[in-house]
Amino acid sequence: MPTSRIGVYGLGTMGSALALNLAEHGFAVAVANRETDWIAPFLQRAAGLAANLTGAETLEGFVAALAKPRVVLFMIPSGAPVDEMLARIAPLLDPGDTVIDAGNADFNDTRRRALALADAGLHFVGMGVSGGEAGARHGPSLMVGGSDQGWTRLRPILEAIAATYEGDPCVAHVGPDGAGHFVKTVHNGMEYADMQMIAEIYGLLRDGAGWPADRIGTLFADWDRGPLHSYLIEVSALALSVRDPETGQPIVDLIADAAGQKGTGRWTVIEALKLGRSASTIEAAVGARAWSAQKDLRALAERALPAAAQSADMPAPQDMERALLAGRIVGLLQGFEVMAAASDEFGWQLDLARIAEIWRAGCIIRSALLNDLAAALRRDPPLVLAEPLRTMLGDNVDALRAVVARAVRAGLPVPALSAALAWYDSIRRARGTANLIQAQRDVFGAHGFARIDRPGQHHGDWPEM
Ligand code: 6PG
Repeated sequence: MPTSRIGVYGLGTMGSALALNLAEHGFAVAVANRETDWIAPFLQRAAGLAANLTGAETLEGFVAALAKPRVVLFMIPSGAPVDEMLARIAPLLDPGDTVIDAGNADFNDTRRRALALADAGLHFVGMGVSGGEAGARHGPSLMVGGSDQGWTRLRPILEAIAATYEGDPCVAHVGPDGAGHFVKTVHNGMEYADMQMIAEIYGLLRDGAGWPADRIGTLFADWDRGPLHSYLIEVSALALSVRDPETGQPIVDLIADAAGQKGTGRWTVIEALKLGRSASTIEAAVGARAWSAQKDLRALAERALPAAAQSADMPAPQDMERALLAGRIVGLLQGFEVMAAASDEFGWQLDLARIAEIWRAGCIIRSALLNDLAAALRRDPPLVLAEPLRTMLGDNVDALRAVVARAVRAGLPVPALSAALAWYDSIRRARGTANLIQAQRDVFGAHGFARIDRPGQHHGDWPEM
């Protein structure tokens, strides 16, 4: 008798945690994994929750364990493995069944897969899951794409396992087809920008002010009690405070300074540019990770190229705190602008305020600021002018400017904070400099330009060069 309400395929860190979360909330869950020898140890670790879990050694057995209409959740590496698993499982499913891809997929793949599976009458749901292992186990933030029917079926299950913010489950049907994965991708892009800005401030304190790791950790822990309150500041404070048990040194001082990246930050930038937008703080963060990976070149260049001529006093920690707040606001504004552009382009009608609301708990970028952002998004656009963001940005941008200026003078890199400031200074300038760009384009390519004093498209009377 097939009795499992949902099947989780993929018992890696995230899949195991989600399966346990579902089981804990009383759902009967079938579990399977490519390496079948992972299943028994998983069920053993599940202890009391194993009563709600059914392990299946074959895909046929896994599908057979599911009550109809079936719900299957894949938590497997994105890319080719998802296509392979869909090709294997689709023939075993019936019209009306739902398949969720809960990995960090490229939304373009999700759109393609949703179309292909719709032909077989299957609902394909690309779902963003944020919060890491602890989130998946005890309450993630969930960004659901796909059809309304898919959402209606999944809603009771997902609302039960999601994080809650003041009783409100951090899950929403953000839009059709690839919208869930797109929104998760941009979430990660903003995660990159926030992490990078925190790392830049860490660099100023470490290399500019000469502070040891644990002192910086204490400062960050203090900031976590103020307007910067957020999971990423908390994580950073923790990381800076832990010592390596063998050497007794702060563990961060022993970690190689070359960052990895799996693709979501880069995808955010690529999609933003395709939409004709620029999320410059995210670009800076992706680029900084790429530069960080060029460790050998950096070691050579440090010896071969001149340093900044002067040293500079570092700004006061309170100014760094305020600069980080201003930078974080810009990072979020840029990410939400990318989502707004995608919503228009793909006709998704994303409810941006709701997206901010489901990021108030469970996800990696959860922060006090997201509550303010959600409030601003419920007001009239443009977002940068909506309260309370406008006042918060206006009150703190002087600190951002002071911090970037000192960092530049001292030769300490702050690419994401600089990008935030450059965006601010560009956006609050009614008369920019693109008139010269338009003139250049017309001189060499006769591209034409609009004039400020009359309508229509014009060309300059440029002399021969
Ligand atoms: C989350 C995280 C999670 C993961 C990403 C980022 O929201 O829970 O974003 O999805 O940390 O994979 O990965 P990279 O930094 O490796 O790109």
